Amino acid sequence: MYLRDVELGDVDAYVRMRCDPVMMAELGGPLPRAGIEEKVRRDVGEAAAGLAWIKMIVPDPRRPESVAGMVTLWPHDVDGTVFSEIGWMVLPDFQGRGVGKRAVRMVLETARDENRWGIVHAFPATTNAPSNGICRSLGFTFLETKDVVFAGRIVPANHWFIDPTTDLMPERSGPTVR
Ligand SMILES: CC(C)(COP(=O)(O)OP(=O)(O)OC[C@H]1O[C@@H](n2cnc3c(N)ncnc32)[C@H](O)[C@@H]1OP(=O)(O)O)[C@@H](O)C(=O)NCCC(=O)NCCS
Repeated sequence: MYLRDVELGDVDAYVRMRCDPVMMAELGGPLPRAGIEEKVRRDVGEAAAGLAWIKMIVPDPRRPESVAGMVTLWPHDVDGTVFSEIGWMVLPDFQGRGVGKRAVRMVLETARDENRWGIVHAFPATTNAPSNGICRSLGFTFLETKDVVFAGRIVPANHWFIDPTTDLMPERSGPTVR
């Protein structure tokens, strides 16, 4: 598995992630199809400028065209306070196999190694068991429950944070049974 920057050709993956009612069930419901090209174009620009890390997950290096999901780490301005925030999505065919956790770990390891982003915050919906599982098992600390705004909609979320330089749980060695 590897991560790469978002590209203009990722429109289809964005549609499958952001316009699907199941994928978006914990994020306020599906987003309209119109506007996805513009969102991808914006994201490509931000990633190229180094303003945000917007990484597509490629599960099999022999099939670089197949995307399993994405991890984004960006400076989120909330009422004038800027947080480093991380978010993630894994498409249904790849869920439940540790792909999300592994990809989030890879991004946090890079943040640690490049000494960028400082404390990283995450806001999974309170009812999103696998997303909260990623936070818990990678070493995030739970702070509080609060309403967050995602794409203009209010979502009750758990606020977690991690210092990747000190808190990231070491990877378990040995076989993983799933
Ligand atoms: C949330 C999501 C990214 C999880 O990705 P994934 O690759 O399926 O998750 P993983 O297989 O890496 O599992 C992550 C952890 O959660 C646990 N987990 C997975 N499903 C779970 C469930 N239903 N209940 C409780 N824990 C669960 C796993 O056991 C693992 O923890 P562990 O390593 O301690 O065992 C993915 O389901 C998704 O994209 N859903 C739709 C979009 C979304 O909700 N995005 C997140 C917004 S914050």
